[in-house]
Amino acid sequence: MIDRLALSLSPWIDTDGRLRELQAFDDTKAGVKGLVDAGLTTIPAIFHHPPDSLPSHQDDDAIPVIDHADVDRGHLVAQVRAAAQAVGFFQVVNHGVPGELLEEMLAAVRRFNEQPAEGKRPFYTRDSARRVKFNSNFDLFQSPAANWRDTILLNMAPPGPAPEEIPPACRVVVPEYAGAVKRLGRELLELLSEALGLPAGYLSQDAGGLDGLTMAAHYYPPCPEPHLTLGTTRHSDPCFLTVLLQDKTMDGGGLQVLMRRWVDVPPVAGALVVNIGDLLQLVSNDRFRSVEHRVVATTSSSGRVSVACFFRPDSASTRAYAPIDSDAQAQPPVYRSTTMPEFLAHYIGKGLDGRSALDHFRLPPH
Ligand code: OGA
Ligand code: NI
Repeated sequence: MIDRLALSLSPWIDTDGRLRELQAFDDTKAGVKGLVDAGLTTIPAIFHHPPDSLPSHQDDDAIPVIDHADVDRGHLVAQVRAAAQAVGFFQVVNHGVPGELLEEMLAAVRRFNEQPAEGKRPFYTRDSARRVKFNSNFDLFQSPAANWRDTILLNMAPPGPAPEEIPPACRVVVPEYAGAVKRLGRELLELLSEALGLPAGYLSQDAGGLDGLTMAAHYYPPCPEPHLTLGTTRHSDPCFLTVLLQDKTMDGGGLQVLMRRWVDVPPVAGALVVNIGDLLQLVSNDRFRSVEHRVVATTSSSGRVSVACFFRPDSASTRAYAPIDSDAQAQPPVYRSTTMPEFLAHYIGKGLDGRSALDHFRLPPH
């Protein structure tokens, strides 16, 4: 009731008018890029977000950069543990994914989005049965404010899409990139398992943490009024682990992590950004942190491209996930158990609304 009252009083929401605007925008099947191509100089009200009072801050040392080629395993595990506990984010260099593959992946996402709208329209859908979906804002009709972003969402496992389901612009590179990032994902989950005092294969094999892979290829068009909206609303990720590729330029607008203030994640040449997801925070019983992050709308005339790979168990798996019982874990569980279908339904049904999906599973304090 209070929520409904708040909604109807909000200056940026007139429920019926808003719904019509959302539907009209979705019906164009041209996304935010379509608005930009039409020459808009002000952004529609559906994209207006309430102002955020937290300041932004540049601190190039805030997010650790870890050399994956470090031959001292103990040192590598210690660095990963420290980052997972303190920041929930790190960048990794010498990760084994070839630089040309990173470049080609970003170029393919740009090619897809920058082609004429007719080429993109056949892929525009909200049909959850499709393994490849292009749309603007997966939560367009759930979230309180839309984001200045278009996304190709690819369910790569299990099973992956047939080649013809993948848009031609990225058909070749997507499976190749997914394979290379999965190798890295396995190594990172091994390091994280060891960092929790568990056998190396625990998270990737026993817990099935690599069984599911969703890839989100984002395109953030240039925004004429970046202070009024966001590229991505603050959120944490619905997975064990995210590996993010972002393009090099960040002149005005990019990924920020919440560390009391919003801290920029500066593009580091050849690096991949890694962050802990909600499910790893849950199974680690809060030892690892799934930290909120957001993307500021960009002013760069070429826009911004990023590709997020979310590693998680099979979304259909009925197995229960709960805080792991181990010798190293002296604390009583702070979460109840959940399943992937339950967790994902809660996350997706809620949309990005500024609240953590984990709160729903937290046990009351003793
Ligand atoms: C995400 C995400 C960040 C980015 O897809 O969950 O946080 O830079 N993306 O696009
Ligand atoms: Ni994210």
